[in-house]
Amino acid sequence: METNEKAAALRIEGLTKIFHLGRNKNVVALDNLSLEIKEGEIFGLLGPNGSGKTTALKLVLGLLFPTSGQIEILGRDYQNIEVKNDIGYLPENPYYYRYLTGPEILTFYGRIFGMTKEIIKERKEKLLKLVGLYDQQHLSLKHFSKGMLERIGLAVAMLNDPKFLILDEPTTGLDPIGSRETRNLLLDMQAAGKTILLSSHYLSEIEKISNRVGILHQGKLLTLGTIPELMTQWKAEDIEDLFIKVIEWSKQS
Ligand SMILES: Nc1ncnc2c1ncn2[C@@H]1O[C@H](COP(=O)(O)OP(=O)(O)OP(=O)(O)O)[C@@H](O)[C@H]1O
Ligand SMILES: [Mg+2]
Repeated sequence: METNEKAAALRIEGLTKIFHLGRNKNVVALDNLSLEIKEGEIFGLLGPNGSGKTTALKLVLGLLFPTSGQIEILGRDYQNIEVKNDIGYLPENPYYYRYLTGPEILTFYGRIFGMTKEIIKERKEKLLKLVGLYDQQHLSLKHFSKGMLERIGLAVAMLNDPKFLILDEPTTGLDPIGSRETRNLLLDMQAAGKTILLSSHYLSEIEKISNRVGILHQGKLLTLGTIPELMTQWKAEDIEDLFIKVIEWSKQS
């Protein structure tokens, strides 16, 4: 390996997930996905509803069992228990106890991670400031806006200071200010050396922060590259045009 070449944070080879829904009824949610994400990269997984984004992320997290394929995270098999310490996850629809406050939620998850009281206290303060919820410490989550819930979700995902963040639709439900704040937060995370894999169907969100993107449709990865590369390759005027051209092409082929 050349010295300027970054190591792979994630390596996926031939990953397939078939859901069996009963006799002769199968859904191929992910079809032979191969993908490599470099350390320090922000990678955007794009695709319409039901294209397999969440399935791909859950497989990487070990929350679903693959039908076939290999997954390596930071050079280790994804099933290696130590790998879990290096991963932070924001689920698609995070659900937290509504009667707890932001600091209480972080304490709760900190204990699950087995963190000491002192470390929890230190991380909690830092993260609440980072996600802009430090001044709302006494508010229980039932009074949180969508944007605030998304931000507490990000704080939970970053609680164990993971090297690799997996975020399923991190800007869903956020207003333009909230999504810009989240984007800036993710860029700060990248500057701090983290690798980020995120899914979205908000093309403009992905365009602003991702180093590379992949477009999924019906479980298949149709195209992969930097946005300028893909725009040239697909003769697209903008990212929306790119998305439509790629999906149309896959319907015809
Ligand atoms: N647990 C499950 N059992 C059966 N089918 C499933 C299951 N989870 C997902 N699927 C199916 O797999 C396909 C991919 O779903 P997935 O949730 O990964 O899509 P997605 O790209 O995340 O969609 P969205 O943008 O709506 O979040 C869909 O056809 C979905 O119905
Ligand atoms: Mg999804």
